[in-house]
Amino acid sequence: MCGIIGVAKKTNTEEVLGMLKRLEYRGYDSFGIATDSVFEKEVGEIKPVQNSECNMAIAHTRWATHGSVTRENAHPHSDCSNKIFLVHNGIISNYQSLKAGLKGHVFKSETDTEVIAHFFEEKLKTMDIKEAVKEFFRAAAGEFAIVLMIKGDSNLYALKRGSPLSLGVTKDGNILASDIYAFSDKTQDAIFFHEDEFAIISKAGYEFYRMYDDLEPQKKEITKVEWSGTVEKKYDHYMIKEIYEQPEAIERLQLSLQSAQKEKLENLKEMIKQSKRTVFVASGTSYHATLLGVYFLNQAGVEAHTMIASEFQNFYLVDKDTLIIAVSQSGETMDVIEALHGMKGKGAKIASFVNVPYSTIQRMSNVSVNIEAGQEICVASTKAFTNQAVGLAYLASLFNGGMDFQKVTNSIKHIISQEQKIKEIAKTLKKKEDMYIIGRGFLYPVAREVALKVKEISYIHAEGMMGGELKHGTLALIEKDTPVIALVNGKTEIVSNAMEIKARGGRIIPFTNSDTTLGDPININAEDELSFALAATVAGQLLTYHIAREKNLPIDKPRNLAKSVTVK
Ligand code: M6R
Repeated sequence: MCGIIGVAKKTNTEEVLGMLKRLEYRGYDSFGIATDSVFEKEVGEIKPVQNSECNMAIAHTRWATHGSVTRENAHPHSDCSNKIFLVHNGIISNYQSLKAGLKGHVFKSETDTEVIAHFFEEKLKTMDIKEAVKEFFRAAAGEFAIVLMIKGDSNLYALKRGSPLSLGVTKDGNILASDIYAFSDKTQDAIFFHEDEFAIISKAGYEFYRMYDDLEPQKKEITKVEWSGTVEKKYDHYMIKEIYEQPEAIERLQLSLQSAQKEKLENLKEMIKQSKRTVFVASGTSYHATLLGVYFLNQAGVEAHTMIASEFQNFYLVDKDTLIIAVSQSGETMDVIEALHGMKGKGAKIASFVNVPYSTIQRMSNVSVNIEAGQEICVASTKAFTNQAVGLAYLASLFNGGMDFQKVTNSIKHIISQEQKIKEIAKTLKKKEDMYIIGRGFLYPVAREVALKVKEISYIHAEGMMGGELKHGTLALIEKDTPVIALVNGKTEIVSNAMEIKARGGRIIPFTNSDTTLGDPININAEDELSFALAATVAGQLLTYHIAREKNLPIDKPRNLAKSVTVK
């Protein structure tokens, strides 16, 4: 994971760290910066360093993979003579064998990244930078986006395989970054790196080369990026801001699906009709949205399946008649990208529902729908999940008659109006170590999603399950006052499942639209399944947020996580 920056223009450390801050969602274990005169790194979130002017800089925000969270393991890394500095996002999977070949070099960290600096130090003794880059592309296994800065040299050198990298072209110089948000306040002109590309970047210009058998010069297209909205924070946390934004995000999506993206949706419908099967691929929260997608498409008579991206190739066979729909907030999740590469190789068509425009997954797709949630900053996904689910339900509705967006937004607003009550429930849960969430049918994905939020943000172990599965084992864990959220939509089976828990001393917290004797409910005012599912999800998001507040946890940046998961 990690975020990297390379700046070839007159700048200062404050400006560079400002850009780096926008990549903090990619990891925030430690950070570092190197310029022509400054070299600073520290454990923890990005903090100001002494401000100084410079003509060139590289910077990094880390999500640790190889080597614990220490100052030594933070980037930039350098060679033995502190002449070559570099930042890296990705994993050099054969770093140990590369390291073994670098005799006499002194390593200061436990990282895979440091090996790259010594590799270049060694190669540059006998060859020029282009030859050394070719050697590196041939020798290195794994994924990398790398920016190299060499003392006394007025260029930056950028290499990409697997991990994302883009270039922002400004009138005063050029900026390399893991993603375009980093320079969104500086330019609209972006260039995206392709696989196995190398670039020489200076204040005055750029040259791109593609690694085939040799490095071949490339013509690059400049994409005019349209930025949607600014991200200000008027609330204590981005999480609550993003929860409140959900009704408005749904309205934005509705408008877009019914106008600007109408044709895209029609094409996607045709692609589904012409395929033998439709299979979703996604990770984490986005996977839960795809479970809802499967449910709604199956209801509409369309055969659909879903599989978690990291295990896709082990559990699913695809061929050229399969339509794959990738669902991802960031559009950069490595597990999804890897799965898509495998499927493209088999001739499958690729569609996607993505929140971040111009992202890798969007660019890999034959058709890509923007879910229009707006920038999501909190690591926990809230409004992106909602808009993914709405987008997929809308796709299904193209096969069986329309859908009522207004009902969905009204149900969510009704939940938000119960926040005070949810807050009181949160107080009673803050000391709990385990929680269960049960649902059936379209409420099973919601149970999974609420459980993920509870784990991620309130650090309580939580399991989201099919109500019918309890009796096959998990019931053994229910003790006096074990909290269980029951997602009750009036169907007798789930009420019976909840009663079974109650009979064993468990505490039921019903999220329901019907009268029950199960306990004091969070009232879901929903007339249809999608509205119920999303209202219950939002109730779970608010509950999680308030438990985390009670526990004084770092809500927007939970420990050990990152927003965009760009490693396998
Ligand atoms: O960007 P993506 O939607 O592909 O990310 C997938 C997961 O990493 C993500 O949904 C993760 O589970 C969230 N942090 C959950 O809130």
